[in-house]
Amino acid sequence: MLISKTMNDAINEQIGNEFGASLQYVAISAHFAAEGLTELAAHFNRQAAEERDHAMRFVQYVVDVGGRVGIPAITAPKCSFKSVEEAVQLSLDGEKTVTEQINALVELAIKSSDHFTQNFLSWFIREQLEEVSSMENLLKTVQRAGETNLLYVEEHLARHHGKRDHEAATAAE
Ligand SMILES: [Fe+2]
Ligand SMILES: [Fe+2]
Repeated sequence: MLISKTMNDAINEQIGNEFGASLQYVAISAHFAAEGLTELAAHFNRQAAEERDHAMRFVQYVVDVGGRVGIPAITAPKCSFKSVEEAVQLSLDGEKTVTEQINALVELAIKSSDHFTQNFLSWFIREQLEEVSSMENLLKTVQRAGETNLLYVEEHLARHHGKRDHEAATAAE
């Protein structure tokens, strides 16, 4: 095994955290879908898929370094929300928590001179910056719109996502 048992255990815990984030986004997406907010629902569905991908990256890494994957129990996500703002604020708080968790993993890797893991985690450091800043932007948009003007948020997401699809398509050409 190319990583320590302590690091293996810490990564297994993070696999649970990423699956937990994925479930939380599924719950938020379903809540928005039930409210008829289809763009917000689709946005959080994409976030849920990304979190599952994060969990799977950790799973693959543990396999690659010859460790043992152990998936902990996942706590139930929050499923009901008083407002869109509450759900997006919870998401932002969650992303900040995950950032702290990733930072703690980096600290552990540095302390144990584990360069494989340190290098592997650098992708997550960049990803967390992106996720925290985009969730902060979404929260600002939601706050500016207020509960009476949520169609503005829907329109904003549709436009933004459409633009990203276009950029991805032109980059692939
Ligand atoms: Fe994540
Ligand atoms: Fe995330």
